[in-house]
Amino acid sequence: MRSNLLDEEKDPQAIAEFLKHVIPVQVDIENAASFDNLKAHLLQNPNPVRLFYLAVPPVFYAQVAGLLKEKQLITSNTRLVVEKPIGFDLPSSEIINDALADYFDEEQIYRIDHYLGKETVQNLLAMRFGNSLFERFWDAHAIDHIQISINERVGVKGRADYYEGIGALKDMVQNHLLQLLCLIAMESPNDLTSENIHCEKIKVLKALRPLTGDAVNKNSVRAQYVAGGLNDQVESGYLEDTELTQSSTETFVAIKAHINSWTWSKVPFYLRTGKRLSNQRAEIVIQFKDVSLNIYPDQLLQANRLVIQLQPEERLQLHMMAKDRESLATQLKPVILDLNFLEQKGSYRSFAYKRLFLDAVDGNRSLFIHRDEVAAAWQWIDPIAQQWQKSNDLHLYRAGTDGPEAADALIRADGREWFETTEE
Ligand code: BG6
Repeated sequence: MRSNLLDEEKDPQAIAEFLKHVIPVQVDIENAASFDNLKAHLLQNPNPVRLFYLAVPPVFYAQVAGLLKEKQLITSNTRLVVEKPIGFDLPSSEIINDALADYFDEEQIYRIDHYLGKETVQNLLAMRFGNSLFERFWDAHAIDHIQISINERVGVKGRADYYEGIGALKDMVQNHLLQLLCLIAMESPNDLTSENIHCEKIKVLKALRPLTGDAVNKNSVRAQYVAGGLNDQVESGYLEDTELTQSSTETFVAIKAHINSWTWSKVPFYLRTGKRLSNQRAEIVIQFKDVSLNIYPDQLLQANRLVIQLQPEERLQLHMMAKDRESLATQLKPVILDLNFLEQKGSYRSFAYKRLFLDAVDGNRSLFIHRDEVAAAWQWIDPIAQQWQKSNDLHLYRAGTDGPEAADALIRADGREWFETTEE
């Protein structure tokens, strides 16, 4: 049986006990004196781990941090948790990170990417670094290409103020998709310390082959949804959702990326994300190469494929060839080794934020983002965004579809196709 909560998290008595320790205190960032009340509460406990989670827009980070400093609330045991977006390009992200650095050491800053808190994302590391099987086959000798897709059913209704002018590249690719790419492509860290994990991820981000000028047009597709629908339900387009008459903000991106390293330079990474698509699904596809020699005359052998589904299910699927047991002849057919973690006994779906906050309290930064990762990611994203501003190639796709035809053309040009999981 799957559940979102552990038994003790559903127990009303345990919840009541927990709530006894929750003390709401209101502060106003325009009024420094209002922080005195917070200080009074915090000083009741002499040496606590203090974790400040700023659920405010980044333009206020420095002001809040300044007030915490002024009120002497920042101790060596204090941590600051902040959310994306850390800026909208490299220079703006540096301004934010510099401002935070005025008040906190890098070791005290916990930048959240909630994808890293997802159970299957952590499982990705367990799978890669806990199995010799994958260690041997994790490079260009064995792998043909990799796809990373985050498809969303939702549109941007209600989030227009944030989304307009930001778009899918900065909202999803700069952070979530590049983080997944790091976890797939990074070398094994020497140990699980956050320093070593960050170091390996930064190496990957810095090795992303820059896309500039015409290479951007050739290797990327951007698009916006227009009215459409799924299952007879009419769904509005981006312009209606944002109440705009005109916009060039993309709600869909597909990019062919490369990593300049011995391991990966010959393996394309196809990244894709979009809103108002036909399904809600995040998955990574590792497409292995064909067997060296097909010794089965007249039979088409499908190359092995490992699918790591992050959501809606948490599962691993290994697509293989096996003998067809319904045939006496040596006939092969594709079969799937399917491991659904949520169907395992005792399994429950952990919340990404639960894991991340527990880690922050424990002082474990390995699932958080180092400032150098933020910088390296923007460094790769900025020229793409700049080129898009110059070129006018915003495609359109109907809500409820799989995105624009141009995204299919991008991968088809290499003789490949997007892989969609099908239930057995
Ligand atoms: C957020 C983006 O970071 O991630 C949203 O700002 C997006 O636009 C969301 O919808 C997707 O997260 P999840 O966990 O629902 O896949």
